Amino acid sequence: MTHRIGYLVGSLSHDSINRVLAKALVRLAPDELELTEISIRDLPLYNRDDELDPDPAVTEFKNAIASADGLLFVSPEYNRSIPAPLKNAIDWGSRPWGQNSFARKPTGIIGASPGAIGTAVMQASMRSVLSFLDAPQLNAPEAYITFHAEAYGDDGEVKDAGTEKFLRHYMDEYAAFVERVLSATLPGHVGDADPDTMH
Ligand SMILES: Cc1cc2nc3c(=O)[nH]c(=O)nc-3n(C[C@H](O)[C@H](O)[C@H](O)COP(=O)(O)O)c2cc1C
Repeated sequence: MTHRIGYLVGSLSHDSINRVLAKALVRLAPDELELTEISIRDLPLYNRDDELDPDPAVTEFKNAIASADGLLFVSPEYNRSIPAPLKNAIDWGSRPWGQNSFARKPTGIIGASPGAIGTAVMQASMRSVLSFLDAPQLNAPEAYITFHAEAYGDDGEVKDAGTEKFLRHYMDEYAAFVERVLSATLPGHVGDADPDTMH
């Protein structure tokens, strides 16, 4: 079965290494995943006053999240945390209260940095946020990518065999995780059982 995955790039930079990583992941993903970017670029700054009459970019963003079977976050780490544009997008997607777009969406978190810990602290922050938003997360493998420019072409070709193997494995595991979550949460499956009728 094909699953539609929306990926969010947490950087607005035109030279983003995380966009290069995202292109590599799209190339290496198994056939059952159909990956499309959900852009965060045009979202205004979150303001609770605008929740009930939001900018069209917000509505478009929430609709894109809603129609995705799963989400993949590909993001830098800024000052040991989530970059503001990505957190802003998540805040919009989480509201209005009762209309959290992330609930039950299978998610993956991956990121690249020139530094040695490869966005590990940002990913820990993301896990906390996504847990609060009731979004199941791929726990393993973790993917803390120290970005070596020579390992990638501009269009995401991966030139280093070890990197290619790891990223392909990550996407295979992500696809299996999406399948597990969706099969457990489809109506009529055990994951949706009414606790009052269970014995
Ligand atoms: C405001 C700012 C904060 C940063 N903080 C971190 C950090 O906490 N950890 C890290 O590994 N790199 C940090 N960096 C370096 C980024 O990893 C690097 O700029 C990277 O290229 C950003 O990803 P991008 O190219 O996808 O935009 C920071 C960069 C900026 C601009």
